[in-house]
Amino acid sequence: MGVEVTVEGLTKSFGRQVIWENVSLTLPKGEISVLLGPSGTGKSVFLKHLVGLLRPDRGHVWIGDKDVPNVSERELYEVRKMFGVLFQDGALFGSMTIFDNVAFPLREHTKKSESDIKRIVMEKLELTGLTGSEEKLPGEISGGMRKRVAIAQTLICEPEIILMDEPFTHLDAQARLFMEEDLLDLFVDGKRTILFVTHDLDEAIALSDVVVVMSAGPASTIRARQRIEFRRPRDLLGVRRDPGFGELSAALWRQLHEEVARVYGREAGDRLRSVPQA
Ligand SMILES: Nc1ncnc2c1ncn2[C@@H]1O[C@H](COP(=O)(O)OP(=O)(O)OP(=O)(O)O)[C@@H](O)[C@H]1O
Ligand SMILES: [Mg+2]
Repeated sequence: MGVEVTVEGLTKSFGRQVIWENVSLTLPKGEISVLLGPSGTGKSVFLKHLVGLLRPDRGHVWIGDKDVPNVSERELYEVRKMFGVLFQDGALFGSMTIFDNVAFPLREHTKKSESDIKRIVMEKLELTGLTGSEEKLPGEISGGMRKRVAIAQTLICEPEIILMDEPFTHLDAQARLFMEEDLLDLFVDGKRTILFVTHDLDEAIALSDVVVVMSAGPASTIRARQRIEFRRPRDLLGVRRDPGFGELSAALWRQLHEEVARVYGREAGDRLRSVPQA
């Protein structure tokens, strides 16, 4: 079940700006991986390579036995059907209702009847707390609600591979927790391969099986790949009280801090003294 996603030797520049240098990373099938790293270093660019929206200068992106940069247009279309992607700046169709926005991928990629579509869309709207808003337009709902519409849209075709670029920004802390818990319930079947991008370290540890920390650019690489072994199903608040959680958080925080300090040309010194030792 699930599909392994393997990136090998990914190298990408825009003009003279080297974004990624010889990066290799496997997203294990059936697991949740989380990508963390300083702003502007290439996380969103990484995601776009996985779905073939950007082509690497060198390297491979294996989705099962298909190498995304080297497949035909037709194969790429088939590969993309395996993905549900929530882009960081993903926009909704402004003139379509919430219902039609969420239904859009189903109508594009499947031959389901309108009654099936209605049932599936309403299910996902309920999951994301949007029941009752289905006839509204994106301009008539809040930023957090629009984010939840995008999450519903990402999940609508039951994708095997899910990429979500900062899915929980704009949500208040309580809604964030509900969404995270509901997504974990959905993903617990281990049938999907999932990659989140977030800037929230504790959220990353609580949710994931693997936390990946990127180094600061230019020419980013993977600084650390940390397995998270807390048993599932997880209590997302309870797990934060586990002594092991504090240790992991402190260790990863130090690494992230050093990378962010590099971006800002600062010494990664003084502020670290207040961080518990791992
Ligand atoms: N299509 C493009 N053409 C040229 N440069 C690009 C393009 N897309 C991204 N970049 C550059 O690549 C770098 C990495 O961008 P990216 O959006 O991946 O950062 P990020 O790690 O996702 O940051 P954030 O955490 O702020 O979202 C940035 O310097 C950006 O300007
Ligand atoms: Mg980004």
